[in-house]
Amino acid sequence: MFSSAIRNKSRLVFDLQKLSNKFSTSNQSNVKVAVCGASGGIGQPLSLLLKQSPLVTELSLYDIVHTPGVAADLGHIETKSKVKGFVGPDQLKDSLKGAEVIIIPAGVPRKPGMTRDDLFNTNASIVRDLAQAVAEVAPKALVGIISNPVNSTVPIASEVLKKAGVYDPNRIFGVTTLDIVRANTFVAELKGLDPTNVNVPVIGGHSGITIIPLISQAKPSVEFPKDQLKALTERIQEAGTEVVKAKAGAGSATLSMAYAGAKFAFALCRALKGESVTECAFVKSDVTEAKYFSTPIVLGPGGIAKNLGVGKLTDFETELLKAAIPELKKNIQKGEDFVNKN
Ligand code: NAD
Ligand code: LMR
Repeated sequence: MFSSAIRNKSRLVFDLQKLSNKFSTSNQSNVKVAVCGASGGIGQPLSLLLKQSPLVTELSLYDIVHTPGVAADLGHIETKSKVKGFVGPDQLKDSLKGAEVIIIPAGVPRKPGMTRDDLFNTNASIVRDLAQAVAEVAPKALVGIISNPVNSTVPIASEVLKKAGVYDPNRIFGVTTLDIVRANTFVAELKGLDPTNVNVPVIGGHSGITIIPLISQAKPSVEFPKDQLKALTERIQEAGTEVVKAKAGAGSATLSMAYAGAKFAFALCRALKGESVTECAFVKSDVTEAKYFSTPIVLGPGGIAKNLGVGKLTDFETELLKAAIPELKKNIQKGEDFVNKN
């Protein structure tokens, strides 16, 4: 019985290692990662994925509730990284000291019938206050913002950092990875492919019509009849709402978001270690008329190393882009005004 327990344990460790290797090609491991909102629906599974990665040596968990418990729990996992919990605004700055990567899933999620913009009133001030602490103690960190509405929270954090005189546009990212994860999954399902081998760039923003999947640039190359392409595009744009409806009042995507958030955090860790990694993210941009825009980004130790732009668009994708810009500009302005007019 004892030997079968050891066999099972070895299998579990092996499986976790495989999962981590999927995200990591480097064995170097000395990145301190902080999660703000670590006790939440996203925060907990995201912290679990970070804890099992050899890329992370220190994991700092901040929330306004429950982080001592979450940290004690995760701290028993037999991986090298050290976990520490911080709770409440008095401990916020300590939680961020020395962090090189900061991931922010703090804030309320949607309920059925709400738009992401309906979260603005609550989440804007949460992200503003977290960004203020980043400005004061970790201005050189690479920051990934998950909190919605991403189209506004990224401009909010950026304006706060600007006001503090420490803004570096290359270091602030809106995490849109879940849109790419979903597009890969849906395309793979329709074409009978292995989703792990599919890569669909998704550009624009992170809400409804601002989410622009570039199916024409999918790898491997795929084609759909017009009506199927339209339905697929709309499903990707509304996939968050699909989960909100299915959860029926119990929140929005948490597990798939934790996966996507970990994927993006590991990309930042690997970039910090000098690997050249490409991920889509919502960043300060001059690619379109919108001041912030998601495109494939080559990441390096200083954050954005190169913006790869939108590439060659089909007529269908050009129309999607045209429809997205006014909404994006409005969302961005709202975020900027929140910081500058208050
Ligand atoms: P949740 O309510 O389960 O968890 C949010 C956590 O944030 C809670 O633990 C809460 O205590 C904490 N929190 C609240 N105020 C805080 C503060 N001032 N400082 C630190 N922590 C604070 O919500 P969730 O399901 O984890 O979703 C979190 C956010 O992520 C929502 O805004 C949601 O819309 C967004 N989201 C974004 C994406 C994306 O693709 N970018 C995907 C899914 C969800
Ligand atoms: C998502 O895309 O799942 C998130 O933005 C959460 C939401 O409100 O849809």
